[in-house]
Amino acid sequence: MCGIIGIVGKSPVAGRLVESLKRLEYRGYDSAGVAAQVNGVLERRRAPGKLRELEAVLERQPLVAATGIGHTRWATHGAPTERNAHPHIAGRVAVVHNGIIENFAELRAELEAKGRVFASDTDTEVVAHLIDENLNAGLEPLAAFKATLDRLSGAYALAVLVGGDTDVVMGARNGPPLAVGYGDGEMFVGSDGLALGPFTNRVAYLEDGDYVIIDHGSARIFDAGGALVERPIKTLPASAAVMEKGNYRHFMEKEIHDQPEGCQRTIAAYVDTLTTRTKIPGDIDFAKIDRIQIVACGTAYIAGLLGKYLIERMADLPVDVEVASEFRYREPALNAGSLAIAISQSGETADTLAAFRYCQAKGMQSAALVNTVESTIAREADVIWPIHCGPEIGVASTKAFTAQVAMLSALAVAAARQRGKIDEAEENRLVRVLLEAPRLIAESINLEEAVRAIAVDVSKARDVLYLGRGPMYPMALEGALKLKEISYIHAEGYAAGELKHGPIALVDEATPIVILAPFDSYFEKSASNMSEVMARGGQVVFITDPEGERNAPAGARVVVTAPKCDPLIAPLVFSAPIQLLAYHVAVQKGADVDQPRNLAKSVTVE
Ligand code: F6R
Repeated sequence: MCGIIGIVGKSPVAGRLVESLKRLEYRGYDSAGVAAQVNGVLERRRAPGKLRELEAVLERQPLVAATGIGHTRWATHGAPTERNAHPHIAGRVAVVHNGIIENFAELRAELEAKGRVFASDTDTEVVAHLIDENLNAGLEPLAAFKATLDRLSGAYALAVLVGGDTDVVMGARNGPPLAVGYGDGEMFVGSDGLALGPFTNRVAYLEDGDYVIIDHGSARIFDAGGALVERPIKTLPASAAVMEKGNYRHFMEKEIHDQPEGCQRTIAAYVDTLTTRTKIPGDIDFAKIDRIQIVACGTAYIAGLLGKYLIERMADLPVDVEVASEFRYREPALNAGSLAIAISQSGETADTLAAFRYCQAKGMQSAALVNTVESTIAREADVIWPIHCGPEIGVASTKAFTAQVAMLSALAVAAARQRGKIDEAEENRLVRVLLEAPRLIAESINLEEAVRAIAVDVSKARDVLYLGRGPMYPMALEGALKLKEISYIHAEGYAAGELKHGPIALVDEATPIVILAPFDSYFEKSASNMSEVMARGGQVVFITDPEGERNAPAGARVVVTAPKCDPLIAPLVFSAPIQLLAYHVAVQKGADVDQPRNLAKSVTVE
């Protein structure tokens, strides 16, 4: 993970580096640092902790220069201390790095044998020493950099600053992304377009193996073989420049409230409002494919599970969903006649990318369900299905989740129609149901006050159980994941039918049990589970709809009554209550909602 930035600029660089790092903090936030050339000499400032610590250091010890590099870290090798914070400097070279240098131990031993002294425990520092060795051997900076890249194995996006009279920054990409920004008399490299948003909207993306040197007016990009290449310069959407919380306390809160609009954009992209028919881009014939394989991680995996429930039931098309980190290594048996779908907000998750590539290597058609259309997963896919929900900054995914589910819901309808499982009238009806979703999500968000009241009690719990049946089972998983990641309360999601097979042993008066149960075909069974829990003193937080409220078992503590909706969009409508519950519990506990401990938003290492 980690975020990197490099600027060859014409105005003071320190504040600009920090501004950019703030936009990259979602990639890691356990320490940060910047380095710049001050009259040809490298200087750096680093601090463990959040960026505000680095800002405080820069206030005490300003860094006056126009060219520099910066880094925000998610530690892989070495504790998040100042000595392990990037940039790492060796001789005339400063380096920031996102990724893992797998052969660093061997390179470090070799360099130490030559008398090089290391100042950190990181894998990155070898890069700075190798470049410096090559400079000392008489190579020009670019040649010294390339000779170093040839020695590295692993994954990296790098930005390198060389002290002396050169006013350049060099960058390289092998795995994690690196974007090149074209300004007016100044140039940039950074982990993504968002990082470059304050400075330019003209951006090119390096391909794997590419390296680049930027100066004040140009970028020279080379491929892995050393040939000068051109990468298309794209214009970033205006949304890349916007990263404001508005009147909200946290990005997560804002993003929960953004969902009606986000889903509206998603749905508008996949249905035709005039004909009320679905429209799924790409040359995929759902009547011909024999199976869908979804690969994803975390919340995106849970969106995939919901996709499975919807597509299998409506289109009678088998769907397998697997966490990408398992899938990629277990050599699954695949069929070239199947469709692979990678679901990823960032489009950069290393495990998802590897699993996706595995499917492609087996000859499968591939579709990327992503938020970031310039991401690696998107670029490598046969078809891109963007979710259009705008940048998601809060580490806990909310609006990307509902947008992913909205797209998969449209996909289920389209596949059902193509496979002859529904007629056109039913397709029209279901499209109208999808078009209603944004309004109903907004109504669901209006339950915030009721949820906030519940959160006070839940915040005192040590453990919380989430139960659901059918599509509410993945929702129970998502509710538990959201709660644990931002409030640090242990939470488990279970299929309610599994209650008696183990988790019921956990039920006691101190453990809130969140039961997700709209009044659908599963309701009676969920209600029985609720009675079983209450009979054992369990404190039920019941999330249902008006009909479910009327039919709730006696004694149920009905706390949240979501609007009535068609089962197709129930996961969308039930998302806000579980997100708001996690959010208000975390706020109640004083937790760092947008940047929970140990997490990073874009997981570009496996
Ligand atoms: C949880 C969360 C993570 C991500 C996961 C995949 O709230 O955000 O579990 O869903 O890391 O990330 P993407 O979707 O970028 O591949």
